Amino acid sequence: MSEDYLLFHQPWLGKEEEREIVDTLRSGWITTGPKTKKFEQEFARYTKAKYALGLNSCTAALHLSLIAAGVKEGDEVITTPITFASTANVIIHQGAKPVFVDVEPDTLNIDPERIEERITKKTKAIIPVHFAGYPADMDRIIEIAQRHNLVVIEDAAHSIEAEYKGKKIGSIGDMTCFSFYATKNITTGEGGMLTTNNREWAEKISMLSLHGISRDAWKRYGKDGYKHWDIIYPGYKYNMFDLQAALGLAQLKKIEEFWQTRKKYTQIYREAFEDIPQIQVLSERGDIRHSYHLFVIIVKTEELRADRDTIMNEIQREGVGIGIHFRAVHLHPYYRETFGFKKGMLPNAEYAGERVISLPLYPRMSKEDVQGVISVVKGVIERF
Ligand SMILES: Cc1ncc(COP(=O)(O)O)c(C=O)c1O
Repeated sequence: MSEDYLLFHQPWLGKEEEREIVDTLRSGWITTGPKTKKFEQEFARYTKAKYALGLNSCTAALHLSLIAAGVKEGDEVITTPITFASTANVIIHQGAKPVFVDVEPDTLNIDPERIEERITKKTKAIIPVHFAGYPADMDRIIEIAQRHNLVVIEDAAHSIEAEYKGKKIGSIGDMTCFSFYATKNITTGEGGMLTTNNREWAEKISMLSLHGISRDAWKRYGKDGYKHWDIIYPGYKYNMFDLQAALGLAQLKKIEEFWQTRKKYTQIYREAFEDIPQIQVLSERGDIRHSYHLFVIIVKTEELRADRDTIMNEIQREGVGIGIHFRAVHLHPYYRETFGFKKGMLPNAEYAGERVISLPLYPRMSKEDVQGVISVVKGVIERF
């Protein structure tokens, strides 16, 4: 490998990002303004959504989606336990209860066959997560949602480039939430985007994202003179600002090139690990475009003499940074203590949660780095 320690992720930031940032600094407008608008327009074009709203995180997008969907105290929201904290936490922020449905063992996406049995009179929304960049079974999920009058909010933090049966992620569900966090496929440092085809929701979310006031600063201080604003709702400070959008504009131009490299590296990883009996790689099936955000292996510890954490520590000791996506959310202390969730409730998620390891996958790595990761992982597995 080219370095002594290969980091789990490093963003690719170059001259184009520098130019956009300098241009923004010199423009005199650094908060939400023209660059944010431009990034929103270009992102809407990329995802083929009618509306795209720049926000300061995917977490903010998920939270505002739930508010727009009318989720409130006492309601229930169905989601997957194999996700990041925020997918579930925002449900709690609305005073609602997260209802976790087990995942498919081969994709780690929410299992549509198990959704309906968890729907009650209180259920208001479903949040599927396109885990690792591989879209969940949206046809089945939307069909169930329509039958039960539920809103579908997609957590697409991993899946900007993904497509499901020829449709771009971002143009399918009621609302879709994206992340531009530092480790994501394109980054603005921190940042997020919400897409929807529903004008009413787009307008509401835009208002909610900036204090719930009736017009944004950009327009308030425009050439036409000062305009008064009104508080329509006690909103949030969730807006994206132009320095973030400057990075986003430059990154969006490189998105397909980044994707091609991650696709190539994924194929090398798949071929290397597919025939190793102690390792499970995730399935791909159907008419799907994967965004190749993560390369996740499931280490079959029942066939080894070590648990996942021992293997993970060995891999790191030998110079490879790793990630864990994810330990099952329902078993985290807050969720256990508040809702009484226990081990045994969601066997597929629990099995995977104790065995997953994500390997480095990003365009700043070289092919030699990928080969280096493979030989470290194989070596560690052989020793146990
Ligand atoms: C599945 C998933 N959802 C949501 C988020 C939250 O994204 P953000 O950090 O932009 O709020 C993440 C971030 O890692 C994630 O992996």
